Amino acid sequence: MAKILVIHGPNLNLLGTREVDVYGKVTIDEINSELEKLAASKNVSLTIVQSNHEGEIVELIGKAKGVYGAILINPAAYTHTSVAIRDAISAVGIPTVEVHLSNIYAREEFRHESLIAPVARGQVSGFGIMSYLLGLEAAISIMMMEKR
Ligand code: DQA
Repeated sequence: MAKILVIHGPNLNLLGTREVDVYGKVTIDEINSELEKLAASKNVSLTIVQSNHEGEIVELIGKAKGVYGAILINPAAYTHTSVAIRDAISAVGIPTVEVHLSNIYAREEFRHESLIAPVARGQVSGFGIMSYLLGLEAAISIMMMEKR
């Protein structure tokens, strides 16, 4: 069965109570359960990890080659700072889709730059939980197309 690695970056474990005016009331468990439902309907298996540690995310990505057909990542604050995560994605060459709950381009200026976007196949930003579901659809389609 095709496998996708889903990575939630720092502070996303706090969704539901964190800045609800920006991120809404959705919890990480709700997001994960919707992702699992969508994946099951497409016969895809997910490994879902949340980490507050940059090095841990780098290691996860580094070990993903040969195991996962695609990566879905919300790098959270590391989006704007992490050359290490960007380099890991670039190094493994696994098709990666970047997602954000909020529209990062409509927020503070420091959020307008994503260091990850240039090495991702694409980005979905601003649709709340739908960003993850649209991102997963894209990751599955890319993975299936490139297997042929
Ligand atoms: C975020 C946007 C980032 O700027 C922020 O640091 C986050 C969450 C989002 O999903 O909207 O932690 O990635």
